[in-house]
Amino acid sequence: MTDDSSKNTSAGQAMWGGRFSAKPADLMQAINVSIGFDRRLASQDLAGSKAHAAMLAAVGAISSEDEAQIQHGLSTIEAEMAAGTFPFRDEYEDIHMNVEARLAELIGEPSGRLHTARSRNDQVALDFRLWVREACDRTELQLKALQRALIAKAEAHADTLMPGFTHLQPAQPVTFGHHLMAYVEMFGRDAARFADARTRMNESPLGAAALAGSPFPIDRHQTAAALGFDRPTANSLDSVASRDFALEALAAASIAATHLSRLAEEIVLWMTPQFGFIKLSDAFTTGSSIMPQKKNPDAAELARAKVGRVLAGFTSLTVVMKGLPLTYSKDMQEDKVPTFEAFDSLELALLAMAGMVADLEPNREKMAAAAGSGYSTATDLADWLVRELGLPFRQAHHLTGAAVKRAEQLGVDLPELSLVELKALDPRITDGVYSVLTPAASAASRQSYGGTAPDQVRNQIARWKEILS
Ligand code: ARG
Repeated sequence: MTDDSSKNTSAGQAMWGGRFSAKPADLMQAINVSIGFDRRLASQDLAGSKAHAAMLAAVGAISSEDEAQIQHGLSTIEAEMAAGTFPFRDEYEDIHMNVEARLAELIGEPSGRLHTARSRNDQVALDFRLWVREACDRTELQLKALQRALIAKAEAHADTLMPGFTHLQPAQPVTFGHHLMAYVEMFGRDAARFADARTRMNESPLGAAALAGSPFPIDRHQTAAALGFDRPTANSLDSVASRDFALEALAAASIAATHLSRLAEEIVLWMTPQFGFIKLSDAFTTGSSIMPQKKNPDAAELARAKVGRVLAGFTSLTVVMKGLPLTYSKDMQEDKVPTFEAFDSLELALLAMAGMVADLEPNREKMAAAAGSGYSTATDLADWLVRELGLPFRQAHHLTGAAVKRAEQLGVDLPELSLVELKALDPRITDGVYSVLTPAASAASRQSYGGTAPDQVRNQIARWKEILS
């Protein structure tokens, strides 16, 4: 590292300022500097540099002595970062130049050979890709942890009745286990989307250099393998210009956050005294500073809201990338903050949701009572008329509608209608009909594959346990 004080240039310009004779304006520096956020790429940057240095030595582009010094210096930097003593400095603009400047302080001249056959353009494309790949892996694990929490709760409540809703109106009785398993399906697809995105992004851009490739005899397959990639990217321009790997991960994150927000909303609803379906312990609720009786589901509300930040990340990066000419433009430095923020939000919401799911306790009596309200077994009556009396479904539907109307007039639920009342609608109706009018019988009868019958729910629980084992 040369001492800049003799020249009228800044410390950061030592990296690229050969043709410059004046310092950048303070505002230039202010808008340009990214170390405040891209320091999160430190471990990826060091891994990339180590792989690059090893490859340069292997192909004879640098000496093995220089390589040894570079590796030693990078390890020292790694230790400084772990110890929190690494000097992150604004004047070196970004993580790449901060590492290189520190390396120069530590090992002197050989540090200058590390950037052979490399540009910050492929370097940042690599670092960011490594970061997003790790984020996908973490998120996939967190989704699976949430699925496990849901499955455990579903198993305990495979036959706990609750109303199934359409239009948020009571529709047909289902079990709480079945309802929770619906989210296991959604989060399973979310996890698969991250795994799928990971497969597509798992190509190394390192060696694309500035944009056109390198005249040095570099081995891109070696660095790709060292960094856990399946292969190097096949077009140097695409390598430094593309961020669709991050967009795809953010799209998957947005969909997962949407699912999370639906579950969060249901927890909020179920927690209200009006529903009274579940209780959350003090661990996942907060009180009010003015209303002593309150117990608020803040964690669920925040999990419901986080989709805003996640989708903002997707929107933000889409707008940054839209219309950018090939290849790299500094606009792309704006890829990181939205991505970091989106994943931070999603990961926290996933962890909190897994905690809430494990914590929540349903009120079986209240749920069962609600499951039978709102004439929720009317479809079962119509199905019985079809099965036992051979009526066409449309006619059975009409007749059942009349039964509901009569029950409403009398202020009773369907199972409480007397046989006399039912026979007035069709004299062939027998008291055998009552066996299908309870919510438990209704749920148990739905034995079709994927249906809400507790046996079917247990089959799906077993299938998922197998998948996740
Ligand atoms: N800090 C930059 C970024 O995040 C690194 C790449 C800079 N490349 C360049 N040609 N200025 O994108």
